[in-house]
Amino acid sequence: MSATGGAARHTGRGTYLSSSTEETIALGRVLGGVLSEGDVLVLTGDLGAGKTQLTKGIAQGMGIADDVCSPTFTIQMVYEGERMPLYHFDLYRLDDASQLEDTGLFDVLDADGACVIEWGEQFADEIGDERVDVFVSRLDDEAAPGEEPPRAIRLVAHGERGERLVDALEASA
Ligand SMILES: Nc1ncnc2c1ncn2[C@@H]1O[C@H](COP(=O)(O)OP(=O)(O)O)[C@@H](O)[C@H]1O
Ligand SMILES: [Mg+2]
Repeated sequence: MSATGGAARHTGRGTYLSSSTEETIALGRVLGGVLSEGDVLVLTGDLGAGKTQLTKGIAQGMGIADDVCSPTFTIQMVYEGERMPLYHFDLYRLDDASQLEDTGLFDVLDADGACVIEWGEQFADEIGDERVDVFVSRLDDEAAPGEEPPRAIRLVAHGERGERLVDALEASA
């Protein structure tokens, strides 16, 4: 079995199709395994799309045993991975860039760990170009009657670091 056993199906560069929660987590696990210090992922998608499920997998891939959930009220959670920390943000409740300073985001963006930011797209300018946008979307038109729709997961790199990350994922997923 490949390292990606059970992961979402590869449909193009940085693009995947997930048919279940487990497949999304398995893809996240592969992604977590190729992250390095300073990588920044901005997860973008509607409520319930699967951003936190993907993050659960990323945490597993970094060797984190804790159960990950959206830090909607605490804004930030830190998990100690085997190689480095995972900084997990949920910026859903923020509506102004001036509030970002208090979240601690700027302290960890270029630090000793990887950042996963849910609802970060509204602050793309502040987060900067060294990021990878990860779009998670429900494909409602492709759902079987009464079933959960599959999810499209698409990584879009900005800058060289992001391209290297997509390359690393391509090599293993
Ligand atoms: N293919 C899939 N990928 C991810 N989640 C899925 C999938 N199919 C069903 N789900 C369900 O959709 C929900 C996604 O929730 P969550 O990850 O918390 O969303 P978000 O963080 O984007 O608001 C979970 O209940 C999950 O079990
Ligand atoms: Mg979430």
